[in-house]
Amino acid sequence: MLESDKLFAGSIPENYDRYMVPLIFEPFAADLAQRAAALSPSAVLEIAAGTGVIARALAPKLSPAASYVVTDLNQPMLDYAASRQAHDGRITWRQADALALPFDSATFDVVCCQFGAMFFPDRSAAYRETKRVLKPGGHFLFNVWDRIEENVFADDVTNALAQLFPNDPPRFLARTPHGYHDTALIRRDLERAGFSLVAIETKAAQSRASSPRLPAVAFCQGTVLRNEIEAREPGKLEAATDHAASVLAQKHGTGEVAAKIQAHVIVAVA
Ligand SMILES: C[S@@+](CC[C@H](N)C(=O)[O-])C[C@H]1O[C@@H](n2cnc3c(N)ncnc32)[C@H](O)[C@@H]1O
Repeated sequence: MLESDKLFAGSIPENYDRYMVPLIFEPFAADLAQRAAALSPSAVLEIAAGTGVIARALAPKLSPAASYVVTDLNQPMLDYAASRQAHDGRITWRQADALALPFDSATFDVVCCQFGAMFFPDRSAAYRETKRVLKPGGHFLFNVWDRIEENVFADDVTNALAQLFPNDPPRFLARTPHGYHDTALIRRDLERAGFSLVAIETKAAQSRASSPRLPAVAFCQGTVLRNEIEAREPGKLEAATDHAASVLAQKHGTGEVAAKIQAHVIVAVA
């Protein structure tokens, strides 16, 4: 992972929430929220919460007496999340780095994290921190994307951009969001941090959009891929998005499009 891969700021939060979240994050948010709520937690921490897709799914399922602390490294993502959530006295919004959580030990029943672990530069440190803030026997629920080839639109956009920038292809999607999919490694990282009873389930879903342009805009303008394109050639963002859209149209058609997405869902006990 490059240091710049974790910079979710500028126009990314809005484009991320508008395009990326419905395209690939909502189905997995419903799944993770369901699993977290089924544990009937009274104290929940979310890390790497982004623009709040889990909070919107999980808060309505928690008990009236529950507390829910929603955190992210990037304040602009968290601001966007808070602006989309109706007032809820159970929720505290707080900027926090997963590698140095600003909470007392043994505070939470559940820690959840959707598609954030791939961004942690030191996953062992993040997992140790997660274990520390969980009560003994508490649950860590998170998910990570499977390899990019199992996530068709992300792979198609990456290949399209490689045609435009053959000497220095923007590889953000393959490198980071799809760069931590080895389930044996994930299990080992968790066990080394002191977690037990690690269960990993691979789950596929469909990503749907009203046109091929939508996934092109989502990936090129609503992720850190945007910064990579602009760094290579300022002013080429629209042309790069158009090229990705035309490659997607050739492969998936010009009307509604749908393709496979796949992730690993992990539950570990502290
Ligand atoms: C792909 S987004 C996922 C956001 C959200 N969970 C969702 O499902 O839409 C990854 C998130 O990780 C956050 N992030 C990156 N590095 C982090 C760190 N060290 N600690 C906490 N959050 C981090 C980013 O700001 C971003 O919001």
